[in-house]
Amino acid sequence: MWKKLSKEAIRKRIFDSLNSNIDFYEGKILGVPASHLDGQVFYKDASFLKDKPFLYTLVNNPNHIGCHTLGDSEAFFEGTQELEREVISICSEDIFKGKKHGYDGYVASGGTEANIQAIWIYRNYFKKEFKAKLSEITILCTRDNHYSMDKASNLLNIGIQHIHTNHNDRSLDQDDLDKHISRLMAEGKKYFIVVANMMTTMFGSVDDVDQYASILKKHQAIYKIHIDGAYGGFFYPFSNQKTNMNFSHPEITSVTLDAHKMVQAPYGTGIFMIEKGMMQYTFTEEAQYVKGLDATLIGSRSGANAVAVWMILMTYGPHGWYEKIQLLLIRTNWLCDQLSTLGIAFYRNPYSNIVTIHGNQLSAGLAEKYGLVPDSHGTPSWYKVVVMEHVNVDNLEPFIEDLKQEKQL
Ligand SMILES: Cc1ncc(COP(=O)(O)O)c(C=O)c1O
Repeated sequence: MWKKLSKEAIRKRIFDSLNSNIDFYEGKILGVPASHLDGQVFYKDASFLKDKPFLYTLVNNPNHIGCHTLGDSEAFFEGTQELEREVISICSEDIFKGKKHGYDGYVASGGTEANIQAIWIYRNYFKKEFKAKLSEITILCTRDNHYSMDKASNLLNIGIQHIHTNHNDRSLDQDDLDKHISRLMAEGKKYFIVVANMMTTMFGSVDDVDQYASILKKHQAIYKIHIDGAYGGFFYPFSNQKTNMNFSHPEITSVTLDAHKMVQAPYGTGIFMIEKGMMQYTFTEEAQYVKGLDATLIGSRSGANAVAVWMILMTYGPHGWYEKIQLLLIRTNWLCDQLSTLGIAFYRNPYSNIVTIHGNQLSAGLAEKYGLVPDSHGTPSWYKVVVMEHVNVDNLEPFIEDLKQEKQL
């Protein structure tokens, strides 16, 4: 269903959607604790807005509270909710190869929220369906995971186990996983929430879901697998088209994506997707004033965020998006070739645009000059280069020249 649209078609669709939302300016809606943006500061009638669908959406200020792929939703904002549903369908069906209408999801505030949402759902699922005690549930992830899993462990009051990764190739250490599962099960843990990485924050490394699944099966553990694609979810499926790290894999039931990273959407555009039947585990029955209740972590959220993601996806279409990712890969290959020629040690997954250089290969001053991000600001062992849209070969070249000088080559 993902097809490139012209600028005019995008504009028309968004304005039509806003026309299907309630019009706060008409003043007929009396019971909603919401309105358009403050009229003294944000003018609705500024002439340029008619060609700026995103800004116009911001001024109209739709609230997308709740999850709109599931049951009833607030009718006030049904026009733009439909665009959000299309975003979830494109991501779950076209990009992550799920079956049609098989997934629920919403535009979350970011990757952190989407990861916590997944863990919250699985925790409640184990509690409800297996009468699990909190002390019997554990999050499993690698030591390269984003810290949102540690936040989830703290908030949801369940344990977390970080599995060792091999230093040079960042792959999951299968023996360490095996050892930890044996120990955890002996200690009474029965239910595991695996969070597998689709490109880690620091290394761009990708976990092998089957490694987790085979060891957990060997121990006859009960588990669910979530993919953290906050960084890589809009990259890896296009750079490695043969991957089965998507909903075609029978073990993968939910995915986090971030549109505010690779997609360059405004901040506040994480995406959460999960197979149908699971979202209900986080329904808050007490949210009685929200039509359709609320199964999301966040509550009120801007519909403009969903519109922004929809606009970007429709502007590129699948082929345009594929080309964009190929360009970033070409630049990343260039950087890696230069580093290899200089004999500088680094890690890079061949399908990723992150290059992580060993900390002893360059000075802290050089890293600072080029804004390379360390793994730890206190004691850096690695520095990363992230080849984003604004990082091109012209920008990379001076860095390579400085590296050469530093190495006296
Ligand atoms: C792999 C990964 N997961 C989750 C997150 C958290 O995303 P956010 O900052 O959007 O909450 C990040 C952020 O860098 C990330 O790289």
